[in-house]
Amino acid sequence: MKQAVARAAIAHIVEGQVVGVGTGSTANFFIDELALLGQRIRGAVASSEATRRRLEGHGIRVLDLNEVDRLPVYVDGADEINPSLQMIKGGGGALTREKIVAAVAEKFVCIADQSKLVAVLGHFPLPVEVIPMAVNHVRRELARFGGEPIVRDRCTTDNGNLIIDVHGLEIADAAALESGINQIVGVVTNGLFARRPADVCLLATAAGVQTKIAG
Ligand code: A5P
Repeated sequence: MKQAVARAAIAHIVEGQVVGVGTGSTANFFIDELALLGQRIRGAVASSEATRRRLEGHGIRVLDLNEVDRLPVYVDGADEINPSLQMIKGGGGALTREKIVAAVAEKFVCIADQSKLVAVLGHFPLPVEVIPMAVNHVRRELARFGGEPIVRDRCTTDNGNLIIDVHGLEIADAAALESGINQIVGVVTNGLFARRPADVCLLATAAGVQTKIAG
């Protein structure tokens, strides 16, 4: 299923341009498909060190985001996605770089299997990237939002920070929660992609790949 959506995402690539590439097992299938395009793309911007290594392993040129003027498309997976195409991401710990690349991209194509589609976000614990010296402060502040914040064991992000996962949330207003958590001093960013949701979701189902747009 992951390979099917990865393959379908290739149709969204703009030839001759740079493509933004996400992180995770579904994104890995996409990288493998991207490799088949050879010189038809100018290169890729990676959302994590793991993705950079996989891209380079396939001989795909990896550019720094600051070298790129235009990023027509960003392709990435999600941990949860709702019918408005708002997402929880960061299960793999790459949320901050993913959010930066998504912010630059003109189009966000989410690739996911059916199990990721939910009516209400929050069953998947919400990842929050935190500056290490602030971790206890942020944990206390996060508790005010109603969930149970737990520091992720043995996890240092590509940016040298820690992750707190907030369990047990039922997120009624994802955009408000995204902004609210970002106001806590010491938070780098959180895994809600609500203010910049996906533009298209390619969803793998037993009956084939479905294309969903926000509704
Ligand atoms: C990485 O930090 C995440 O945002 C991934 O995009 C997300 O966890 C989806 O990963 P899978 O494709 O492995 O389910």
